[in-house]
Amino acid sequence: MIKKLYLIGIGPGDPKYLTLEAKDLLDRLNLFLIPEKKGKKEELTKKRTEIIKFVKGDKPFQCVYLSFPERERGINYKEKVIEWRKKKGEILKETLLKLEEDEAGFLIWGDPTLYDGHIDIVKDVAREIGISFEVIPGISSFQVLGAKLQVSLTDLSTPLTFHTPRTLRKIKNIEHPVIVFLDNYETFNLYKNQDLEIFWGAYVGQEEEIFVFGELSEKTDKIKTLRKNLKEKKGYLMEIYLLKPLKKNE
Ligand SMILES: C[S@@+](CC[C@H](N)C(=O)[O-])C[C@H]1O[C@@H](n2cnc3c(N)ncnc32)[C@H](O)[C@@H]1O
Repeated sequence: MIKKLYLIGIGPGDPKYLTLEAKDLLDRLNLFLIPEKKGKKEELTKKRTEIIKFVKGDKPFQCVYLSFPERERGINYKEKVIEWRKKKGEILKETLLKLEEDEAGFLIWGDPTLYDGHIDIVKDVAREIGISFEVIPGISSFQVLGAKLQVSLTDLSTPLTFHTPRTLRKIKNIEHPVIVFLDNYETFNLYKNQDLEIFWGAYVGQEEEIFVFGELSEKTDKIKTLRKNLKEKKGYLMEIYLLKPLKKNE
């Protein structure tokens, strides 16, 4: 049975963004747990396996693909997420109890602490079956976005907040920088009449990365068209953006 599980942040999709700590662990461990993405997102499962292969070269390793259910949609979002996480926890628990190795790595996209429920799921499972776990930080897409577009995410004495559309749309006026994850709703559209800059990126850090940046009012339509085309072409879209109040006369 697994006695120790490592939640390894693997960065935004290219091995060059692995930390040395993550790389050493991928090299040392023989067994990896990978959530299985189905359909158009299958490529995301492959990318995780390719990252392990990149580190291990010809060395053998084993991957166990976890077939987690999709989250049910419903009015009560929080309840649905809790239910979903419980189901995932059950699947993880069964898998960990069955495996014969002592240690395994669980590959987490980007950084495990951001918009990813696996720390909480693993915490509960680990307590229940008496195993230990460790979290290895990873580089997140928002960091690569800032670096590639040469933009500071924070302004002088301003906070920086992280949002998904659910929380972003509650904000009327954007007065300090915000990073937006998981926006399937083009929520930036709500703010196109405010003096804001947008720094938008898709598949950031990967070969196919693409960026659009500039005044939000001028870039909204371009981003909308691009989103549509990329979704059609690739089948799924991974996008992240920063909105910042526009600095005038600087
Ligand atoms: C479930 S969240 C997980 C975030 C992850 N823990 C991280 O640190 O990036 C997935 C969302 O992260 C963002 N994301 C992750 N990788 C990305 C990438 N390479 N390019 C653009 N956005 C990315 C997208 O908003 C995507 O829908």
